[in-house]
Amino acid sequence: MHHEDKKFKVGVLGATGTVGQRFISLLAEHPYFVIHALGASQRSAGKKYPQAATWKQVKPIPSAVREMVVLECKPEHFAECSVVFSGLDADVAGDIEAAFRAAELSVFSNAKNFRRDPNVPLIVPLINTSHLGMIPQQQSLHAPPLKKGFIVTNANCSTTAFVVPLAALEKAFGPIESCIITTMQAISGAGYPGLPSLDILDNVVPYISGEEEKIEWETLKILGGISEDDGVKAFDMHSRHPLRISASCNRVPVIEGHTETVSVRFARRPPPSPQQVREALVAFTSDAYALGCPSAPRHTVFVHEEPDRPQPRLDRDFQNGAGVCVGRVRQCRVLDIKFVAMANNVAIGAATSSIINAEFAVLKGLITP
Ligand SMILES: NC(=O)c1ccc[n+]([C@@H]2O[C@H](COP(=O)([O-])OP(=O)(O)OC[C@H]3O[C@@H](n4cnc5c(N)ncnc54)[C@H](OP(=O)(O)O)[C@@H]3O)[C@@H](O)[C@H]2O)c1
Repeated sequence: MHHEDKKFKVGVLGATGTVGQRFISLLAEHPYFVIHALGASQRSAGKKYPQAATWKQVKPIPSAVREMVVLECKPEHFAECSVVFSGLDADVAGDIEAAFRAAELSVFSNAKNFRRDPNVPLIVPLINTSHLGMIPQQQSLHAPPLKKGFIVTNANCSTTAFVVPLAALEKAFGPIESCIITTMQAISGAGYPGLPSLDILDNVVPYISGEEEKIEWETLKILGGISEDDGVKAFDMHSRHPLRISASCNRVPVIEGHTETVSVRFARRPPPSPQQVREALVAFTSDAYALGCPSAPRHTVFVHEEPDRPQPRLDRDFQNGAGVCVGRVRQCRVLDIKFVAMANNVAIGAATSSIINAEFAVLKGLITP
């Protein structure tokens, strides 16, 4: 369907970082997108990509990128692109992404800066692509109104892992009333070089700054709907059925893949059985996969029957890290049901989410060359 010369030219912002490198690996062989420009800080600008990046991917640097010179993150350098993917540091992402939007580029971001913006969708592409419906309002509020420019964010990596099974369960059994999550998060979630080895080897660090608040807030925006009053749209934050969430976040000595234990209580009485929950998770298919997004996984939630799975080292590359793995679905004696969820924090937790969001936007005609 898309020939080489018809592909969308895309830029990667924060191209040298952990998420930026994953963008480059995934985009190097993409059916819709071709990498056209790379941006990072002034420290990297002017250098060829291999000199600017500390490359930490299993696959070598794609040949199309080896000779590219890293640019400063200014929209004029990306004028030929229609889409940019952002893996920018949160300290700078706000201003830079706003400038790219104002220059009529479609921005798909991993950074936290716009996740709470009332007109910016926060999309986990396996569950709430319907929130793309907020884009026209976002564009109309800009002065002058934008024709092509917009920002779409994806969730924090630790939110993504459990919110996908939660969405599947709400679809099958109605609202969830409360949820308790304990995370065991990989080191790569903090970017490179991350924690000093002496802090994380042989250790568990029971604190990740801002993470618990992000989980508790983002989940409501993602699982909620969009209400409309007098023609003005707003994210309803799951307010029709209040959802209480308590998260405890820990950093563990794993390189890639966040593992989380989750307990949920359903509004409906009696609650579904563990077997009904397993079946609902297996049956759940994303709209992104149904629509034909090339990076969407066939199994949105893969349910393990083995009692000791999922495990990050064994399961993080299944389906290229684009789905969520769940196991140990069983009764909870305090809430209703508990299970373990695992997701690749740099794939569906970051770069893969942005890419599927962009694929979905292409297939829905929201991005034009
Ligand atoms: N790692 C994950 O699993 C994950 C998951 C979800 C979301 N995120 C989010 O994604 C973003 C990137 O995370 P990361 O782990 O990839 O971080 P990282 O490895 O530290 O990379 C940060 C990137 O931002 C660039 N940058 C820093 N200062 C800049 C400036 N003043 N102007 C332009 N570019 C600048 C860096 O370029 P230089 O190399 O030139 O400094 C680098 O390319 C963060 O907002 C993070 O919270 C990360």
